[in-house]
Amino acid sequence: MCGIVGYIGTRDAYPIIIEGLKRLEYRGYDSAGIAIFDGTDLKVCKTKGKVSDLEARAENEITKFGNLGIGHTRWATHGVPNDVNSHPHLSNSGDLVIIHNGIIENYESLKKELMARGYTFKSDTDTEVLINLIEDVKKQENVKLGKAVQIALNQVHGAYAIAVFDKNKPEEVVVARLGSPLAVGVGEDEFFIASDASPFLEYTKNAIYLEDEEMAIIRFHKEIKVRKIKDDSIVDPYVQELQMNLEQIEKGGYDHFMLKEIHEQPKAITDTYRGRLLRNEAIIKMAGVEDNMKKFLNANRIIIVACGTSWHAGLVAEYIFEDLARIPVEVEYASEFRYRNPVITENDIVIAISQSGETADTLAAIKLAKSKGAFVFGVCNVVGSSIAREADAGAYTHAGPEIGVASTKAFTTQITILTLIALRLARAKGTISSSDFRHYLLELEMIPGKVEKALQADAHIKMIADIYKDSRNCLYLGRGYNFPVALEGALKLKEISYIHAEGYPAAEMKHGPIALIDENMPIVVIATKKGHYDKVVSNIQEIKARKGKIIAIVTEGDEQVRELADHVIEVPETMEALSPLITTIPLQLLSYHIAVLLGKNVDQPRNLAKSVTVE
Ligand code: F6R
Repeated sequence: MCGIVGYIGTRDAYPIIIEGLKRLEYRGYDSAGIAIFDGTDLKVCKTKGKVSDLEARAENEITKFGNLGIGHTRWATHGVPNDVNSHPHLSNSGDLVIIHNGIIENYESLKKELMARGYTFKSDTDTEVLINLIEDVKKQENVKLGKAVQIALNQVHGAYAIAVFDKNKPEEVVVARLGSPLAVGVGEDEFFIASDASPFLEYTKNAIYLEDEEMAIIRFHKEIKVRKIKDDSIVDPYVQELQMNLEQIEKGGYDHFMLKEIHEQPKAITDTYRGRLLRNEAIIKMAGVEDNMKKFLNANRIIIVACGTSWHAGLVAEYIFEDLARIPVEVEYASEFRYRNPVITENDIVIAISQSGETADTLAAIKLAKSKGAFVFGVCNVVGSSIAREADAGAYTHAGPEIGVASTKAFTTQITILTLIALRLARAKGTISSSDFRHYLLELEMIPGKVEKALQADAHIKMIADIYKDSRNCLYLGRGYNFPVALEGALKLKEISYIHAEGYPAAEMKHGPIALIDENMPIVVIATKKGHYDKVVSNIQEIKARKGKIIAIVTEGDEQVRELADHVIEVPETMEALSPLITTIPLQLLSYHIAVLLGKNVDQPRNLAKSVTVE
């Protein structure tokens, strides 16, 4: 939620910040703003809307070269998206300026205290309260900016990644984080500040990721000083070399990031199992699992916590862990789990799944599980993210940056890694035969090629999308391993096309949703050969009897469903447990094309943000 960018150095800060904000727009895009110190004056420009709107406005307002600046792209929490609530925010004196990603939970009581001392507020935001609190501390205690930020942050509850500077001391920026990510790019005589490394990739590959409750004072021409916010202790910053490159975060000829990421799945899945699936040796090797094998084997049960698409991947994992490794699994929405006093013991393993590794509810669920003694295993995509760091052990999916707000390759790579874990445990427990195990390894290696094949149905799917794009509702049905895929297909459609869609286990249809079916209702049914094929065929017949329009995802060569359905989309055959990796593909393409045909903003759907760092 919200992206922050900053620069201090010898270059012109404005273009670096604007380009950086565009790369971070996936984090929030309802308003944007920038503050530049141009050598003599502080210029602030902000607006409701996207970074392109900011650019248009800033053209006349920020005209001079300035080598210090901060910028923000917002996903509103406190206060509606409008010009005034946009960041950066100034203190009452106009000297201090701040950008903030997160929520200050006790801002109302702090605001009252500040108002009693004569402070006034233009916006409805918690951020304006924070910058005035910093100003107040600075004046009352007669301390430098860094110290004032530290004292102020010790008075706030909530989450933040902030960057602050004083226009009277334009050689210094103070940054801090708690619960929201913050990276500092370290160049020659220059520093970059950002929510993730993408804004500074072309300038430096050296980055410091601040830990929670750390702050840094960044001085032009000098080094960066990192401290603990609570006790002021000095931290030796770890400068890591980034592996990411610019190409990975560009569209590479595709119209949208979502489409690029859908097409990246064969490679992403391969990257996920590379070095872990060793077919010739007939083993699966994953350090995080090997090192904790005893814990996994002695676990009473596995509890999976996640949100959204990652939760759907967790549901697929439930089938595969129980089916292959015979370990009981519960899948929980992190947001429910964290607040319902769950029964957790030291013999439970909690697997937290998160693409961003920053989802606030999932992070809180992990902390709760750890406090009860459970062992937490993280499955994340973003390296060095908060969840990856908080977990006791884990495995990265290595899907590469996912920028489209609707998750695609994150889902299939999460399923891939969870399948590897389930297979590894099944082998260790002896719940799978060695020949079945080998069969899985072989088939897993064939999945990228099969995904590639499934992608070839693109033009056919686009044609189907054109027929159904004006539908008001849509049902998605699947059974067994493909029930979570139905949920995921429905989520994809609703989040980017704003068409109401529901996913159901196919057999549940007759317990309610069947009442919705008429000749105007498209129903996407996953009816691949393995699994509960005959039962799904019966469900299709029930739909047909009620004149529903059937779009069936079928195994190549299927004739039976072709006779019944209005449209079929063929996918290559695979083992039942691996089928979600394939059946998901046409559903992603279907929602993508419908959204594009409707003229929706596919990569940045309304009201959403890529990483949900607020609860
Ligand atoms: C849907 C989507 C969201 C995320 C959810 C969890 O396309 O992207 O539902 O899956 O917000 O995010 P992560 O996986 O980053 O924890």
